[in-house]
Amino acid sequence: MSDPPAIDVRGVTRVFDSRKGFLFREHTRTEALRGIDLRVESGSIFGLLGPNGAGKTTLVKILATLLLPTTGQALVLGHDVVEEQPWLRPRIGLVLGGERGLYNRINAKDNLRYFADLYGIPPAEREERIREVLERVDLENAADRRVEEYSRGMKQKLHIARGILHRPQILFLDEPTIGLDPKSARETRKLVRSLVSDGVTIFLTTHYMFEAEELCPELAIISKGRVVARDTVAGLRQLVGGDRTIEVEAYGFEDREIVSLRSLPGVSKIVTEEFGPRTRLTMRVRTGETLPGDVTDVLPGHPELAVRERRTALEDVYLDLVEEEAP
Ligand SMILES: Nc1ncnc2c1ncn2[C@@H]1O[C@H](COP(=O)(O)OP(=O)(O)O)[C@@H](O)[C@H]1O
Ligand SMILES: [Mg+2]
Repeated sequence: MSDPPAIDVRGVTRVFDSRKGFLFREHTRTEALRGIDLRVESGSIFGLLGPNGAGKTTLVKILATLLLPTTGQALVLGHDVVEEQPWLRPRIGLVLGGERGLYNRINAKDNLRYFADLYGIPPAEREERIREVLERVDLENAADRRVEEYSRGMKQKLHIARGILHRPQILFLDEPTIGLDPKSARETRKLVRSLVSDGVTIFLTTHYMFEAEELCPELAIISKGRVVARDTVAGLRQLVGGDRTIEVEAYGFEDREIVSLRSLPGVSKIVTEEFGPRTRLTMRVRTGETLPGDVTDVLPGHPELAVRERRTALEDVYLDLVEEEAP
């Protein structure tokens, strides 16, 4: 029998009802997840990419059995997150973004001892396992220092050490580089990549497109509680119908000029943006069809025209998809 998918989510919704104001008279209802379907195979890094408020943390908490879905079903490692929480808990690692969850007044080793006991790691294995994970995240030299002396980057490494201490089969990382300086963020990404070689399946969330592109062979884009795309990075580039992007800038364009640009071969989409007096047209183009020179040819009479060609980045696709979801 083949392994079940690491994650199998079917029609999951989550509504938050909250009351606030004097005598809780104001009632707000937030549909954080509006019907998520998502399947993720094991053995890789899967990325959940979306802007703030899209529902990423809500989905991660449901998958990590911390929060109940309102409707729908979610299986992790083939087991139901609601019905089989006791089976799942020891097999799941979770690292939520932010500063909480570590004890600042004690050192890294004592933090990990506390969690090792909580996870039921046998005392005979405990010290060896703690040494292993500290080495794994490159904190062995800081192991005896109090956590309050740690930088944000070191704390995040310790969070990850805690997340893998009990050898989970699947590790959830919610925005693992948020708030880190660029160097620590880079080190954290390197660490995340290396964890896959230990056989852990990683499900990470991010709102940085470049981070998803760098780390995740496959990803889903989530916007307003819905999955709006799920593909490889290369597949996502194809989604917008072109793998080159040409940007054209001038002091305004005539409608007929945009029409003639749209009729050039291989042009699938043109997005217009205003920057003060300048207008920028961003065009998706299939490789080798329309070239920057062809664009210049159909726009005579713009001495101040700027034309630039580049590879379509995941960022372009991401903004297109998230933008299309806007109300
Ligand atoms: N406990 C909660 N109570 C009320 N609303 C919530 C709660 N948690 C999240 N939300 C709302 O649900 C939506 C999705 O939030 P979240 O999952 O945190 O998004 P993300 O992690 O993608 O930024 C947001 O509109 C957020 O305000
Ligand atoms: Mg979040």
